[in-house]
Amino acid sequence: MRVVVAVSGGIAAYKACEVVSRLVKAGHEVRVVMTPAAAQFVAPLTFRALSGQPVSVDVDGDEGGAIGHVELARWAQALVIAPATASLMARLANGDARDMATLVYMGFRGPVVVAPAMEPEMWAHPRTKANRAILQQDGVFMVGPEEGRMASGYMGLGRMAEPETIVGALEDAVSPHDLAGRTVVVTAGATWEHFDPVRILTNPSTGMMGVTIANQAVRRGARVVLVAGPSVNLAPVHSRVETHPVVGAMEMLAAVRAVMDGADVLIGAAAVSDFRPEQAADHKVHKADIAREWAIAPNPDIIRTMAMEFGARTMMVGFAAETENPVEQANKKRLEKHLDAVLANLVGPGQGFGDGTHQAWLVSAEGVEQFPGHTKTDTARRLLDWISQRLRGR
Ligand code: C5P
Repeated sequence: MRVVVAVSGGIAAYKACEVVSRLVKAGHEVRVVMTPAAAQFVAPLTFRALSGQPVSVDVDGDEGGAIGHVELARWAQALVIAPATASLMARLANGDARDMATLVYMGFRGPVVVAPAMEPEMWAHPRTKANRAILQQDGVFMVGPEEGRMASGYMGLGRMAEPETIVGALEDAVSPHDLAGRTVVVTAGATWEHFDPVRILTNPSTGMMGVTIANQAVRRGARVVLVAGPSVNLAPVHSRVETHPVVGAMEMLAAVRAVMDGADVLIGAAAVSDFRPEQAADHKVHKADIAREWAIAPNPDIIRTMAMEFGARTMMVGFAAETENPVEQANKKRLEKHLDAVLANLVGPGQGFGDGTHQAWLVSAEGVEQFPGHTKTDTARRLLDWISQRLRGR
């Protein structure tokens, strides 16, 4: 996506560097404009280096190669204003187009994210409140400010939102709302099957795939319930996702069943342990007393059980993490578990687990589709496209 980041003159301008850096790393094309006051806090050269593009400060065009505000507003697909000082908010709200940020804002008709940053008294002032209300009426997405210590040393509400939050707000702002009114249930992470309070049977799943799907679905307007195993606290979950933390597979099954009423789709991304100790001790078993062999019981198949109970009205999507023949295995699982689709992906050293990339195929009664992307975000988006299209036909 082509993003213009507009920076105004507050101490939080240094955090705008991180915003630009994150956007570039996420694959976006970024161009930065700054107010003259912002250029007192951070050198334009810093943003030039981070974005790889000329930076505009002067409204009359200064740095070689920088394009004017009219072209920038036409070029942009999204605008992020961070930090927005009280003074810039006033200019934006009043159409007082005397700086590059306001000029681009007024020429642009796409999604705009504004991250205010100012002293708490200024944020609480009626004039700022009025300007904020005008900007919101104009369809601007506000993110923050947050509570905390200010550069002045005072505590209060006025710190700019963290760069990660601002980038998340931009993703929220640009997502299609094709899942509005839908309820999506997602299972994620490994389950922990306790032998005793300090020993568990589990697997290396971090829950990243399930959390990425849940976060993307919420952005697309769905109500999302995430039934999450204990490994999921490693992955940041969107604040609008309803999370039900569970530990073992039996508990996960009960938690999923409890939320299935009214669900449009169940996405089983959890790596459920296949087995659990038949009996778990409620106290720590000391080494000398640990049996050499444990009686192990198979866990119920959660998604298969749900497909039998709710499959007539809820779409069922499973996962198959395989080290070989992923498509074949996925199709077998689809039939055995009575699922609408199974997302096959290759796992092994260096791929599949955690944050990394993977190869994915969607296997359904319609055939096999190889997903074009390689990141879990690409996979989550494509999967939700597929689900959203099929739900429309139901
Ligand atoms: O059979 P396998 O574990 O490879 O199947 C993976 C799919 O089945 C995933 O969607 C997983 O969430 C689901 N599953 C389940 N309950 C189990 C085992 C797997 O829901 N006990």
